[in-house]
Amino acid sequence: MCGIIGVTGAADALDVLLDGLERLEYRGYDSAGVALVNHGDVARWRIADGTHSVASLRSLTGSAPPAQAGLGHTRWATHGQPNEANAHPHLDCGGNLALVHNGIIENHAELAAGLIERGHVLTSVTDSEVLAHLIEELMETTGSLLTSVQQALLVVRGAFAIGVMSETEPELIVAARRISPLIVGRSQGASYLASDIPAILERTRDVVIVEDDQVVELRPGSIIVRDRDGHEVVPRSMHIDWDIEAAQKDGFDDFMTKEISEQPRAIADTLRGRISDEGCIVLDRFELSDERVRSTNKIVMVACGSSFHAALVAKYAFERWTRIPVEVDIASEFRYRDPVLDKQTLVIGVSQSGESVDTLQAVRHGADGGAATMVVTNVVDSTMAREADAVLYTRAGPEISVASTKTVLASIVALQLLGLHLARVRGSLDDAAFAAEIAALGSLEAMVADTISRDEQTRTVANAVMDARDFFFLGRHAGYPTALEGALKLKEISYLHAEGYPGGELKHGPLAVIEPGCVVVALATGSPLKEKMLSNVAEVKSRGATVILVVDDGDEVAAALGDYCIFVPAAPELHAPVKDLVPLQQFAYHLARGRGFNVDRPRNLAKTVTVE
Ligand code: M6R
Repeated sequence: MCGIIGVTGAADALDVLLDGLERLEYRGYDSAGVALVNHGDVARWRIADGTHSVASLRSLTGSAPPAQAGLGHTRWATHGQPNEANAHPHLDCGGNLALVHNGIIENHAELAAGLIERGHVLTSVTDSEVLAHLIEELMETTGSLLTSVQQALLVVRGAFAIGVMSETEPELIVAARRISPLIVGRSQGASYLASDIPAILERTRDVVIVEDDQVVELRPGSIIVRDRDGHEVVPRSMHIDWDIEAAQKDGFDDFMTKEISEQPRAIADTLRGRISDEGCIVLDRFELSDERVRSTNKIVMVACGSSFHAALVAKYAFERWTRIPVEVDIASEFRYRDPVLDKQTLVIGVSQSGESVDTLQAVRHGADGGAATMVVTNVVDSTMAREADAVLYTRAGPEISVASTKTVLASIVALQLLGLHLARVRGSLDDAAFAAEIAALGSLEAMVADTISRDEQTRTVANAVMDARDFFFLGRHAGYPTALEGALKLKEISYLHAEGYPGGELKHGPLAVIEPGCVVVALATGSPLKEKMLSNVAEVKSRGATVILVVDDGDEVAAALGDYCIFVPAAPELHAPVKDLVPLQQFAYHLARGRGFNVDRPRNLAKTVTVE
């Protein structure tokens, strides 16, 4: 999500930081900042200038005095608006200590309350700043930056990669990691830290991968890695021979594969801190009162493309859990059909970018009609997020590939959280059912990781049908929107003819075009309608189609009906789309690559569509 970098012992520390931040530019961010430790003083520069932030920061720091140590940060907002006050590095009250952070501190609200009570003045609304003040407080008793960071991390819950410097030990940077990525390296008397390899690749190719709960002391030309008990450990080293472009893709061939691989993290981050120890759902900027939730008698979700499919998947869960009728509308159609709206309606816009003009106008139309509005988006402070009554952010990090993958899964998971919250407030789901759904959400991260790791079976199947030109994706129940998304992904990046259908609809027309040479991808994973789906499969098979079945592990009976099979782990039917989408993404990917296309930049398409 955010990018961090640090250096100590380099004569040109500021250049190291700015060059490194520039190398992270491809990810997109909303603000940037650096802090330098010079002659025992901490000096800081920050700016929020969208994708120009690093260039603007370079101008801003033009007259900075030379320094040998410093920290830098590019921000992709998760807590608080993308403005200068929320940009990193953050300082303590005395301005003696600087900190950069990538991740999410789950218990920041309770930590901030305690700090404020004890007299600290927090100047941002980020979750990160609390760490700077916690360390400041501990420094008063320990007098050591290392010990203070170690102790502070004992009370912090969540995910983090941090770098901290203090004017009391100007050559020292203390770095630490839990879940969020962190690497360190050294060369020619200088030591470096970074969240991402491209940031320091021009300075060193030998890096240490910092493991969870390790704390690192960086001094000029020296790196000491310690475990959670403070014992020095032999670090895991790696030589990087990628060029910058490969490093930006984390060694993957393209951003689409990188982003597919990031899906478990996107799911975990979207859930992080939102399910309390007592099993309640805690939504950060959910500004609809319980009374408003209880009076809602209709929900309309509006979205385009893949976000539309995410909304359709969520409809099944919303209706079952909340018993509120849910319509899902194509955003570009919604406002032109004079929809029935009133104060009891909740309009939910689903948009990874928060900027698609069709969805934006649909949400505005909902507000004009008197409905309460809400947005599920991946971009903090996007236009939709600013305008809606309530926001729920997915935390998938920047998505670069035009074909959405990780933001789709994160949107489904965020919507499921929202559905459970509404159900809880309305009392429409009993304790046992609620607990079961929460447990199912909690298992999705591992299940998606498992599914991604089975890419070889999908590649083999894709290779077997590489010459086909017509594809039909069939699903039933929540598998139907899953099929729609599978077809969209294939169309988008491989330029092949692909259509998604509910299995039961075949005999009402589409069956007429099924003939030898057609490929049918059928979702036959755990669903009460699986038997019916398999009958639909028999219908297409008898017309000569080649059938690829997506089936649950161990379901050999279903598997026997397909020409090819893709096995996935079993999940409850309302959650199954989250992992069933993975092989469909991979299938589209392999066909597109096999046909020689650039999967990240498909022809005729833009990542964000801001024209009607
Ligand atoms: O940013 P949004 O979620 O509003 O974008 C909606 C669609 O443009 C988007 O999902 C599009 O269909 C993707 N390229 C699909 O991969």
